[in-house]
Amino acid sequence: METTKTIRSQFAIDVKQGLGKERKSLPSKYFYDEEGDRIFQQIMEMPEYYLTRSEIEIFAQQRDEICQAMDAFEKPFNLIEFGAGDGTKTKLLLRRFIEGGADFTYFPVDISQNILEEFSANLEKEFPNLKVHTLNTDYFGALEQMTRFDDRRNITLFLGSNIGNFHLNEAEDFVKKLASNFKTGDLFLLGADLKKDPEIIINAYNDPHGITASFNLNLLRRMNRELGADFLLDNFKHYTLYEPETGEILSYLISLKEQLVNFADLQWKVQFKKDEFIHTEVSKKYSLTELEHLANGQGFDVIEHFLDDHEYFTDTLWKKKDQSS
Ligand code: AVJ
Repeated sequence: METTKTIRSQFAIDVKQGLGKERKSLPSKYFYDEEGDRIFQQIMEMPEYYLTRSEIEIFAQQRDEICQAMDAFEKPFNLIEFGAGDGTKTKLLLRRFIEGGADFTYFPVDISQNILEEFSANLEKEFPNLKVHTLNTDYFGALEQMTRFDDRRNITLFLGSNIGNFHLNEAEDFVKKLASNFKTGDLFLLGADLKKDPEIIINAYNDPHGITASFNLNLLRRMNRELGADFLLDNFKHYTLYEPETGEILSYLISLKEQLVNFADLQWKVQFKKDEFIHTEVSKKYSLTELEHLANGQGFDVIEHFLDDHEYFTDTLWKKKDQSS
């Protein structure tokens, strides 16, 4: 349980840092404890949350084109996936790779050991011959390990609009680090949510069922559970807005009254003014042009954008350019 302890104390450090500031915020990665994982599953099943269905549609209908664009059956590769989660979408791709006789090892990367264990047990049942090597680390830890794999080319997957949790400048840094760990010709398949009618977007993050609100408020419940805090959930509300210009959904928890929250385990207290906010998440939407700039600016060529029929979502395939050209 060493990892749980380390993560927990890192959680304490990040909470003290985030709530100790003038402008309060918490890192969105802390949504995903066991309860958060469960609520996120419910989000993915909501009719308003079009993202997952759109990406599944892309993989179900265009997997042959995707495999072909990757040269998947011709050249062996390592398949690395960041934030693998429960892998519903990836399994569509894995099945096609296996059916086509692709020669590859699958490396799912996730910060949740929980999810990884469940996922790899599940994979073993469904694909007994698949070579799987799990990596229980964050993206940047995985990037460091990637360089040590072997001489095979790498195909890296970053699906589900997880890149949306970065502001544009952070996404640029992330892609730059990625590029510096890639070999010439390595591939990157990025799932990104697209800019569209703001109403469609806001409904996905401000649902009438209150599921997204509960997902956001789970951060407070998690601090109560893991840090002995005494947040009263009724004293906060979920608030989210969409900025069409940046394409950013911004999520907050708003304090409904002046209140003092006690963290018993940390011997620490935090004061909230009435209407004070905690910024909890950014979920950025892209245009295809923005994605092309993101790729080209950091050393990638765009091979192809794969889109769903509504053009809500894209899985865009990039290839690492030759350094010298
Ligand atoms: C898991 C980061 C892709 O931003 O759409 C869903 C998380 N937050 N509803 C997203 C989320 C609120 C989700 N990602």
